[in-house]
Formats: sequence, structure tokens, C-alpha cells
Amino acid sequence: MAETSSPMEIDAAAPPPTALGKVNKGKAPVSDGKSAPWVEKYRPQSLADVAAHRDIVDTIDRLTSENRLPHLLLYGPPGTGKTSTILAVARKLYGSQYQNMILELNASDDRGIDVVRQQIQDFASARSLSFGARPSVKLVLLDEADAMTKDAQFALRRVIEKHTKSTRFALICNNINKIIPALQSRCTRFRFAPLDAAHVRERLQHVIQSEGLDVDDSGLTSLVRLSNGDMRKALNILQSTHMASQHIDEEAVYLCTGNPMPKDIEQITYWLLNETFSDGFRYISDIKVRKGLALVDIIREVTMFVFKIEMPSDVRVKLINDLADIEYRLSFASNDKLQLGALIATFTNARSALVSAVC
Ligand SMILES: Nc1ncnc2c1ncn2[C@@H]1O[C@H](COP(=O)(O)OP(=O)(O)OP(=O)(O)O)[C@@H](O)[C@H]1O
Ligand SMILES: [Mg+2]
Repeated sequence: MAETSSPMEIDAAAPPPTALGKVNKGKAPVSDGKSAPWVEKYRPQSLADVAAHRDIVDTIDRLTSENRLPHLLLYGPPGTGKTSTILAVARKLYGSQYQNMILELNASDDRGIDVVRQQIQDFASARSLSFGARPSVKLVLLDEADAMTKDAQFALRRVIEKHTKSTRFALICNNINKIIPALQSRCTRFRFAPLDAAHVRERLQHVIQSEGLDVDDSGLTSLVRLSNGDMRKALNILQSTHMASQHIDEEAVYLCTGNPMPKDIEQITYWLLNETFSDGFRYISDIKVRKGLALVDIIREVTMFVFKIEMPSDVRVKLINDLADIEYRLSFASNDKLQLGALIATFTNARSALVSAVC
């Protein structure tokens, strides 16, 4: 069947039922009610709303306006706006026809070779209605594409080429290494880096204002810090802290997330550097229970703190290496008490090394 991208082409059928069944899955407009998750309520609706990544968004915007959209591969860490960007592109391209023109598949769908052979093939080869003067290429959105099997990815290579005239493919993933090179080379790649602190702050301020929240500067700074450039995380923490307390300050944010407060980390590092083994063990065990802290969070934050302490670089290197080992062991659910002992032992060794460096 010959495919054409002529602007005024009126084709026989709307997308097949298989496609329609999957369209817009999980992206139904969320009610604006108080219970709505803010990550969805404040999902950027247009490309202009997407914070940060200005270069990428402007490029995609221009290509969309000029109707020259290539196959896209958006990758980067979670909560940086990849899905939001592509959904905004779809809205811009299709307006009210949005639901008929895109096939969205994500990791919750079967992602094996059968899906490529059936659903994606059917959708891509189904003829579509074109509206107005604008040629309507369809969009296949493969969110979380790194979860696709290798066989499915190999099968997709040919499908992409075969349907290039009528369909654009947008692949989204966190881990680009899991996408086979042949697919990467068929797409224009854009990397979505973690959002920088200023953009997270700005976007949070917008939500705070819209929701009329009482957030002080220490609270906002903590939200930005704990989000680590993940906007979804920032909004989720903001919303859960708001549910727990009306006034949002540093303490409320840290209490809500269970993360150790900076002053607790300072105190723990002080004990690690100055107390005897048994006292240090007792004090840290006590604060862990009292404040409900997880050892892995303590290790992560203490490691960051070690970067700020002045010490000979060989001591620092060994210390950080040992801390990384403890963190690794904790990820296999090893015994907390033993690992706390290892943490104190590591600092005891570092203290001896510091003393001999001075002598
Ligand atoms: N650049 C951004 N500008 C504004 N809001 C953002 C941005 N990035 C993320 N968000 C917020 O975080 C939520 C999740 O974003 P999105 O689904 O686009 O992330 P993602 O990059 O696709 O993440 P994942 O890799 O986990 O799928 C959005 O609903 C929005 O509220
Ligand atoms: Mg996504």
C-alpha cells in the first residue's frame, strides 16, 4: 500500500481499534480537585511551559511548527520533562485530534516483538484523516523504550523506515545504553539533564503561588536540594509536606521525607571524627531511632559532608571509597548494625591516617 504525506490526503479509515484502545493511556486530564497529584495538575501543557532545556524545547518547537519533525529519542534521568515535552508536541501538532493521532505505549504495556509486529505496524499503516492544510503525520510514542526487548527494538528498525512518510516515532528512555545503536541512529537525540536549582526553584514558586502555600525560604531551599534536579520529586515532596503541615519550612520538609537534616549530619560527622568507637556507636544508634533515620541516608549525606572537610587528598580518597563500599553493601540489605560499625571503623582509620599525616 503506497503511503503519501500529501497535506490534503483524505484516507479511508481512522486509526485501528488496537491503536485507539491504547491512545492517551493514563494521561486523561486530571481533575483540578484538591486531591489531584500536583505532578499531573502542573504538567506543562505547552512547550512554553516546560522549564529549563530551552535549547532543546525551542529546537523541537521550531521543527514542529515547520512540520519537519524527525524521529525523536529523548533520554535522561527521571522527572526532567521528557514525556511532558512530547505530549506538548502532540497537542501542538494535533489539537483536538490529539487522541486519534498518537499511539502511546509505555512500560506497563507488553513491549515484546508482538507489539511491534501488530499494534505499531497496524497503527502506522492505518490511513489517517488529514485536517486543514497541515499534513498529518501520526505519532507513535514509545515511553520507557529502554524496557523494550532487544528483539522488539530490532523489529522496530524496519517499521520506522517503512512508515517514515506517514508516522513519526518518539522514543523516550532513561538509559540510552539500552537502546540499540541502529535505533539511535534513526532518531535525533536530545538529552534532558537534571533541572538546575534555579529552574526547580522557579517552577516550585509558581506552584506555591497557585496553591497559595505558606513556604519559607529554608523550606524552598530544602525542596530544591532534596529534589536533585528531579521536578517530579520536588512536586511530590511539596505536596506531601503540605498535607502534613500548613507552614512549610526546612524541618517540615526533612521530617516528611525522613531525610536527615543538615544539622543532624553535622552532629553525626562530629561524633564520627571525635568520639570513641563505643560512644559514637551509641550516639548514632540513638539518633537513628529517635529521628527515624535510615543508615543509607546518613552515609549518603555524610559522604557529601566529607567533601567539605579539609583533609589530605589520599585520606579523603580512601574514606570516600570505604563509604561507597558500605553504601553498596547496604543496597543488598546487609545488617544495619554491622554496617554502622563499619562506618565508625572507617572514620577511625581516617582519623589515624590524619594523625600520621600531621606527625
Ligand atoms: N522541565 C519541566 N518543566 C516543568 N515541569 C516539569 C519538568 N520536568 C518535569 N516536570 C514535572 O514533573 C512531572 C513529570 O515529568 P515527566 O513525566 O515529563 O518526566 P520524565 O522526564 O518523562 O520522567 P521519567 O523518565 O520518569 O518518565 C510533570 O508532570 C511535571 O509536573
Ligand atoms: Mg516519562
